[in-house]
Amino acid sequence: MSAPSATALDRIPGWFWPADQRLFGWFLSADAPGDLLELGTYLGKSAVLIGDHLRPGETFTVCDLFESEAPDAANEAETTGSYSTLTRQRFEQNYLSVHDSLPEIVHGPTSVIQNHVKADSCRFVHVDASHLYAHVKEDVLAARTVLRGDGIVAFDDYRSEHTPGVALAVWEAVAGLGLSPICVSSHKLYATWGDPVPVQRRLLAWLAATPELWHTTDVLGERELVRVNRRKKPPAPAGELGELGRLSAELKRTAADLKKTAAESRTTVQALKTATKEISLVGPVVHRAVRWTRRRLTRR
Ligand SMILES: C[S@@+](CC[C@H](N)C(=O)[O-])C[C@H]1O[C@@H](n2cnc3c(N)ncnc32)[C@H](O)[C@@H]1O
Repeated sequence: MSAPSATALDRIPGWFWPADQRLFGWFLSADAPGDLLELGTYLGKSAVLIGDHLRPGETFTVCDLFESEAPDAANEAETTGSYSTLTRQRFEQNYLSVHDSLPEIVHGPTSVIQNHVKADSCRFVHVDASHLYAHVKEDVLAARTVLRGDGIVAFDDYRSEHTPGVALAVWEAVAGLGLSPICVSSHKLYATWGDPVPVQRRLLAWLAATPELWHTTDVLGERELVRVNRRKKPPAPAGELGELGRLSAELKRTAADLKKTAAESRTTVQALKTATKEISLVGPVVHRAVRWTRRRLTRR
């Protein structure tokens, strides 16, 4: 990733996480030529990075409703709820803060994308627009048409609890439309209608040399699936903690001690309460016994 985009990505709002930024960088650096397409661009967080990898002679197209009305009520509810501050102008400002010129912009629903992008022309498609099954199903078919044989498609939100329609459309394509998954991150599934095996081999070699990404290989029926995530930073060894780190550790220990003492005090108070109650119950019994014994003794 080039330096300007790396800084810009931090200040552009969106949903494009570090592991996926690295994976996009890797997939987009592959030698194969072809155009680039993003369905659902929002304020440009992922588009800005995709634009870094545009080569001479290639076209990058983005498609979004921006502030326009959605094609149906469910889509309208989704967009007004989640993207209320989105405007095309804000997208263009963000994009031009990093790149010299804008991509081709299709301002409208993704259902029209095949009127703008040629069949068999793309090396990379990012599907990140509507989350509704009927739309994603259409986006899957459009991606299959516009991708070249060995092109890569990345699907966002393929497994989130709030996007079951994306999951259904994506796995349906895997089960019935010849889509082969290459790898998954927490948020995206990367796949191809070409042969996934050589891509996975190259990906695994790159991952082995990329310590900030954790990965493993799972079995997915007859095939393999690479799982990738960002490696959590190991805790700094004690010797490397600065003064602040030491103070913070000390405070944590003191807080834990105080909590323990409070819990012990609560137990003691409870025990005293129980004992007092028992004494107050036993007291009258003892009194009566003493009075009875005294009466018996004086009668004799
Ligand atoms: C999750 S956001 C995209 C996030 C962006 N790729 C990023 O990484 O920051 C989804 C976008 O899809 C757009 N969208 C939703 N439904 C759409 C549709 N039917 N056609 C075109 N765009 C749509 C929304 O306007 C929104 O900007």
